[in-house]
Amino acid sequence: MATADVIFPSAAASTTWAPFEAKPMPQRDDGNFDPKKHLNFVPPSTVHTMADIGLPEAIGVAPLAVSEPFPLFTKDAVMRMREEVLSKDVTSNCVYSSNLAQAYLRGYADKYAPFVYNAWKSPETLNVISQVAGIDLSLQCDFEIGHINLSFKTEEQKNHEMQEYRHDCSQTKTNNNKINTPDDDAPIVGWHTDSYPFVCVVMLSDCTEMIGGETALRTGSGSVLKIRSPQMGHAIVLQGRYITHAALRSLNAVERITMVTSFRPRNPHARDDTVLTTVRPISHLPDLYYQFATYRLEMLAARVASQLKELADARAAGRTVATREIKRFLEEQERFVAHTNAEMVDEDEVVVGVLPQVV
Ligand SMILES: [Fe+2]
Repeated sequence: MATADVIFPSAAASTTWAPFEAKPMPQRDDGNFDPKKHLNFVPPSTVHTMADIGLPEAIGVAPLAVSEPFPLFTKDAVMRMREEVLSKDVTSNCVYSSNLAQAYLRGYADKYAPFVYNAWKSPETLNVISQVAGIDLSLQCDFEIGHINLSFKTEEQKNHEMQEYRHDCSQTKTNNNKINTPDDDAPIVGWHTDSYPFVCVVMLSDCTEMIGGETALRTGSGSVLKIRSPQMGHAIVLQGRYITHAALRSLNAVERITMVTSFRPRNPHARDDTVLTTVRPISHLPDLYYQFATYRLEMLAARVASQLKELADARAAGRTVATREIKRFLEEQERFVAHTNAEMVDEDEVVVGVLPQVV
């Protein structure tokens, strides 16, 4: 399944966290995910709505645009997740790379990471994410549970970057008495929209000393709203399919590990604008396509069942069957099926590791 080898730094840098070197999973006897013990949810102080950032709500499927960071998991839960995510099984078998990033860990949770898997499958977790999003959500699919973005630097690289940053700051200060932030020139992931309606991004690293690393959003007026990076165990929820956003560069941290889990509306009658554009080239396609086709067909089945019931009810009540409505329903489902089919690009036409360029 692995599409590339990734070189992890061979020794732990000066950090209070687990060594980067992948280790076999330790035997645990302290149980699996327990929402009472491992959830640390406190609702976000602020939720920015689509209206707040000047975008029509109808663009998306919920009022939420993005939340401010909020506590989600306890430190113990984060440490358990790190053990699984950085285990040999995951870092050997589930690594993907692309033209945009050296390494992602994907599609590992149901195979090698029971704690991560159960954390996201927990109804309590889903409930609090839905609460933040303001809409009942489902996990996008198992393959997308706990997608990991990794960034490792050595102490030397970190210090060198900080030296350059301080130099830039002093130059800028001399020039116009204003301190630059590190994002001004170099986003690590350029402007883009996501494939999935909602993402929840959880920080798995100690970011106490980190500078930058915000999520930047393009507002309706063209200005930029920056959401600060969450601290360890904290999260943000973003309606990323509909909002152009970028991940800004971070400094002064030897590692940055974020866990991204994707969601879609639970209601099968709701719009589902899911595409696979930004995930197709970095996925095990049989898994991704199986899960995508399954939930889309389940949605279709639920819609057809409702329509059949409506027809039967109308007939039983002696009402005339509304031809125009049936045709509208059928046309909508034709588009739904065509979209599903189009997203499942033939495997031999998918160029592995090549994602659409973002600017
Ligand atoms: Fe994104």
